[in-house]
Amino acid sequence: MIRRIAVNTGGGDAPGLNAVIRAVAISAMSRGWEVLGIRYGYRGLLDEPDGVVSLDRNSVRGIHHLGGTILGSTNRGDPFRYPVMKDGELVPTDVSARVIQRMNQLAIDVLVAIGGDGSIQISSKLLERGLPRLIAVPKTIDNDLPGTDQTFGFDTAVATASEAIDKLHTTAQAHERVMVVEVMGRHAGWIALHSGIAGGADAILIPEIPYDIERVCEKIRWREAMKRRFAIVVVAEGAMPVGGEAVFKAGAGKFKEHGQLGGIAERVAREISERTGKETRSIVLGHLQRGGSPVTTDRVLALRLGCAATRFIAESNASGLVAVRGSRIELVPLADGTGRTRTVPPDSDVLITARQLGVCFGDEEPESFDSMVPPPPPSLPPYRSLKPPS
Ligand code: F6P
Repeated sequence: MIRRIAVNTGGGDAPGLNAVIRAVAISAMSRGWEVLGIRYGYRGLLDEPDGVVSLDRNSVRGIHHLGGTILGSTNRGDPFRYPVMKDGELVPTDVSARVIQRMNQLAIDVLVAIGGDGSIQISSKLLERGLPRLIAVPKTIDNDLPGTDQTFGFDTAVATASEAIDKLHTTAQAHERVMVVEVMGRHAGWIALHSGIAGGADAILIPEIPYDIERVCEKIRWREAMKRRFAIVVVAEGAMPVGGEAVFKAGAGKFKEHGQLGGIAERVAREISERTGKETRSIVLGHLQRGGSPVTTDRVLALRLGCAATRFIAESNASGLVAVRGSRIELVPLADGTGRTRTVPPDSDVLITARQLGVCFGDEEPESFDSMVPPPPPSLPPYRSLKPPS
């Protein structure tokens, strides 16, 4: 019988976290369960004062539209490499036994862990070491988790990036410049692809398709010849040239498994400027993409995931990952949610659509741009264009 469950949020935040917390808390309370919130990932169980709080009806009121997480999050909360001060130095230390002991002391029957691949791996390891039961809710703006078709936060990140691209369009056009926009996504190009196509980008560079910068320059020269003297290039932070590597701002650390991607837009902008002579600027959207209120689709998805989590807790004794499968939400094995990155497949309909619209991915033959404007068939009478070229 379930009496008490706990919720935590780990890893980078994503818009929609609060909506999941609210849905878990309300749907659990309606079943008569008590709900605790663990703050800052697992840190709340270790050395955080007030690290465990009650998530009563009042604490989750009016939070579903707020970005961030009321529980706080951290990238340094891995209990298997927790920073512990030894001889004046922080040393990665396995404190997982303490975490499990605290959970047992608190009589927590099930942990609902909302997190990305790293957090799911950590919670799964805790389950192997004695955590009573685990329901993982996948989260990341990158939309790159295996096992689920979709993650909440992604649509909001895409909306933020698309709005930024719209704004860059007007200034790029005014100055006849090339604007290179770097978006997040780690080693997957979902955010770049979706925001690029929504924002009407001329080129989109994603990690799944190593680019040849000359192909991108060809597209810019072709636009110039068509009297379109500006261009928007969207670059995923993990994009790389053919035969090259992704650009990192900082390497992995003692407490951080992954390095910090960043800097590719600057490099692409410099190369475009050198090769085409065009005035070029680069911009990194960075953490803006993780901030702000979730868009409605993310709110709805997050609320569905949170309520599904408590349904699964009530319906069986299984641990698992709450996954989106088509239009359904299912409980799938935890292992399905980790171990690989869900990248953009070559047959992605959005990718094919972008190519049909003439977006350059840095891998096409230069002649393909010329073939995009066939002359009108001579037999048909010409109509006046709705919008004459500006
Ligand atoms: O995984 C989400 C994400 O925002 C990535 O898109 C990005 O590379 C990374 O996190 C940034 O992490 P941090 O917040 O540690 O800088």
